[in-house]
Amino acid sequence: MRIGVLTGGGDAPGLNPAVAGVVERATMCGYEVLGLKRGWEAISVRENASHIVELGPEIIREYSRLGGSKLQCSRTNPVSEKNDRTDIVKENMKKLGLDAIVAIGGEDTLGAASVLFERGIPVVGIPKTIDRDLYGTEYSLGYDTALNVICESAQRIAHSAESHQTIFFLEVMGRHAGWLALRGGEAAFADIILIPEYSFEVGQLKEVLREQLETSRSRGFDQIYKMIIVSEGAHIEGEEEIRKDTKLDEFGHYSLGGVGNYLKGLLEHDFRHTRYTALAYLQRGAQPTQKDRAMGRRFGHNAVEMIKNGDFGFYVGVQRARLVKVRLLEIRKSPSLVDVSKHYDTERLNVKQQWTDITE
Ligand code: F6P
Repeated sequence: MRIGVLTGGGDAPGLNPAVAGVVERATMCGYEVLGLKRGWEAISVRENASHIVELGPEIIREYSRLGGSKLQCSRTNPVSEKNDRTDIVKENMKKLGLDAIVAIGGEDTLGAASVLFERGIPVVGIPKTIDRDLYGTEYSLGYDTALNVICESAQRIAHSAESHQTIFFLEVMGRHAGWLALRGGEAAFADIILIPEYSFEVGQLKEVLREQLETSRSRGFDQIYKMIIVSEGAHIEGEEEIRKDTKLDEFGHYSLGGVGNYLKGLLEHDFRHTRYTALAYLQRGAQPTQKDRAMGRRFGHNAVEMIKNGDFGFYVGVQRARLVKVRLLEIRKSPSLVDVSKHYDTERLNVKQQWTDITE
């Protein structure tokens, strides 16, 4: 048995440990593993010799601890309408002697995997995205590391914010899902959290801030600053999300970014000192935490088990805290967003207090 493994989409901490997990379990089963570089690109181009690497057990130690992806990533779509390369994928699988593919990625990479599976390619998937918004799984690789970076960064920024009594906007990723902002902000005890799932009024934002400042003053606090964690997809009622530029990737997505700066601009006349920082790639570029290493390893082992059992067309998911098989085509269903009525306090613009389900 020869397995190909690839990492697609944006990089995330936990990809390398997942590849290490695949290699570890495959070695135990007596299977060979080939690394397919740059996501789906490796097997959707004809000249791909430089895209292929042999992965033996000697890589496990290094891969187990590194962030990013040693196999590199790309947002290549092998089944795009404009440039469908299913035939090349099939030819390459034959040429490389591949019996199965493990695709590690998010909605796009696994969405492409589901189409390829429907066209007869034996593929299984592992969920990855710091956004934690994939249908059918409570966990995706990178989320825990990104949350830790957000929490740590908020703490660092607080030193500066406290010194200057700043209203600080810390912008985090997540695309259309507010999980990173909500759970990062919760752990950092952010004063305000703005998420894409709840479009707010600027007037309300100012009002909540004024009340908070007033309360802090009346309690005699002398170091008054406010930390606002804002998701890149958050937007004002009736307005569009703020886009970084006009480019679209192969899956038709645009990049978000800049809402923190925009809001800072709207508030700077009413408040004395306002500042903004976008965490951007710092939250993806970290050494994976214990959770992302362990989950990567488990996902890797389970993906190989699925191949061994002939369970193609599935990805490894987490549901109710258990590892389960989920049909790849489910990944194309609507993403898992924050349920505002369950998790968000629309009056305080913050995480809802007193919630008992800790799986979300
Ligand atoms: O999906 C993961 C993610 O990091 C999003 O949170 C973010 O919007 C996007 O990728 C950024 O993509 P790129 O790496 O193309 O800038």
